[in-house]
Amino acid sequence: MSDLQAILQEATATLAATTTVPHLEQTKARFLGKSGSLTEQLKALGKLPPDEKKTAGAAINEVKNQVEALINAAKARILNVELEAKLSAEAIDITLPGRTSGTGGLHPVSRSLERIEALFATMGFSVVDGPEIETDFYNFTALNTPENHPARSMHDTFYIEGSKNLLRTHTSPVQIRHMLGNKPPIRIICPGRVYRCDHDATHSPMFHQLEGLWIDQGISLADLKGTLTQFLNAYFERDNMHIRFRPSFFPFVEPGVEFDMEWENKGGKIKWLEIGGAGILHPAVLKNGGIDPEKYSGFAFGMGLDRLAMLKYGVNDLRLFFDNDIKFLSQFR
Ligand code: DAH
Repeated sequence: MSDLQAILQEATATLAATTTVPHLEQTKARFLGKSGSLTEQLKALGKLPPDEKKTAGAAINEVKNQVEALINAAKARILNVELEAKLSAEAIDITLPGRTSGTGGLHPVSRSLERIEALFATMGFSVVDGPEIETDFYNFTALNTPENHPARSMHDTFYIEGSKNLLRTHTSPVQIRHMLGNKPPIRIICPGRVYRCDHDATHSPMFHQLEGLWIDQGISLADLKGTLTQFLNAYFERDNMHIRFRPSFFPFVEPGVEFDMEWENKGGKIKWLEIGGAGILHPAVLKNGGIDPEKYSGFAFGMGLDRLAMLKYGVNDLRLFFDNDIKFLSQFR
């Protein structure tokens, strides 16, 4: 067998066994590189007599072309195998359910508030906001609680150092702000965050209140009781729940009451649950709001929004609402 045939045979066998690109490069160099076996053959051509050169050269080139074709074929085969391996390693299981981007939901307190606003809207109340950083005037003085009045100590107030401002301790200041800018009849609710220096299972330094205010001619405690009864029955999806008033003191109302609602315990026992404070607007408060107490009267109430949400959803620790634990919150989605 001639050298050329031996080279071709060797190249064919080697390339058939080549499975990686680096190995392929080595093989290529071995035959076609600077001192590859075919290159050596070409170099040797020079020593041949002129009449043999032509046929020998053609034979070498023939084999060279064949080897090159073998190399290209091997390369295509190797790349194809590598691609297949890569594709199957990255295989996507199209039968798996898709991963959703986790839609958020309303916080239970916001969810309750939306319902509460809708229920009061059916009774003609509109929603009004006020600032959370309040002045001493709106939070206390205008609500008939002048400086040094003992009722100020009922609230553990966060004062803002170096100013007369504070974090509002209740939503009642919105009453005054609204009265000063509007004429009766007034029928509003004012939901929002309030702040007190207090922290345990039923108190958080930030919590939510809902204020209500109705001013018109001839408004009485009966209107207050009717409004609260209607609201609480609707909110708790009942139709025969009783509300009771207990006399109480708040400087901005006279008479003032605390109101309770009937509540059935898990064991089926009925008890009275305190829901909020309320009363008939004190004449001084109407005056501070620029409204003539001889002509108009009104009622106001304030209740804890978080408390209402806790009762509605059966949550027993107020802090759960503010811990921001997704496991808790996602139950309300
Ligand atoms: N602002 C009172 C508080 O936070 C609650 C309250 C009581 C509001 C009587 C009222 C009211 O509007 O008439 O303790």
